[in-house]
Amino acid sequence: MTWAACLCWFGCSSKPAETTDVMAEGSPKFQQYYVHGKELYTTYCSNCHQQSGTGLGRLYPPLNVSDYVDANQSAVLCLMRNGKEGELTVNGKSFNKKMPAIPALTDIEIAEIATYIYNSWGRTKGIVEVQQVSRVLASCDTLR
Ligand code: HEC
Repeated sequence: MTWAACLCWFGCSSKPAETTDVMAEGSPKFQQYYVHGKELYTTYCSNCHQQSGTGLGRLYPPLNVSDYVDANQSAVLCLMRNGKEGELTVNGKSFNKKMPAIPALTDIEIAEIATYIYNSWGRTKGIVEVQQVSRVLASCDTLR
C-alpha cells in the first residue's frame, strides 16, 4: 500500500458512528418519526432510562444495550402503553420494579418512539410503521 492509499484509508472511509448518519440515509417520513420520537423519548422515558439509554443501576434497565429490546419488539410496544410489572431479565441481570403505564401515548407516538429506539445506539432497524404498531397494540393482552 502506498502512502497516499494509506492516508485515504483513514481519511476517506472513516464515517462518524452517530445517529445523524442513519438519519441522512432515511426518507423524510423516517426522519420525522425519528426526530419526534427522540423528543417523546426525552419527555416520557429519559427520567428513568436516561437520555443516553443506560438506565440506572438496578432500578431502571438499559435500553441502549438490551437483549430484551432486541428480541421483544412487540412486548416493547405494549409496555410503553400498558407498563410492566414482575421480574424481567436484561443482559442476564434481573430487574423487578413496576414501570408505570403511559396511556396518553397514541399509536403514532409509540411508533415514533420505537423508531427512535430501534435506530439509535447502534441499532439500524428502519422505520417502525404505525400500522404495525396498531396491530400489535390491539393484541397486547395475548402477549402477557
Ligand atoms: C418511572 C420510570 C420509568 C419510565 C418513565 C419509563 N420506564 Fe421503562 N421501565 C421502567 C422499569 C422499572 C422497568 C422494569 C420493569 C420490570 O421490572 O418489570 C422498565 C422496563 C422497560 C423496558 C424493558 C426492559 C429493557 O430495558 O429492555 C423497556 C423496553 C422500556 N422500559 C422502555 C421504556 C420507554 C420506551 C419509555 C418511555 C415511553 C419508558 N420505558 C418509560 C421504568 C420506567
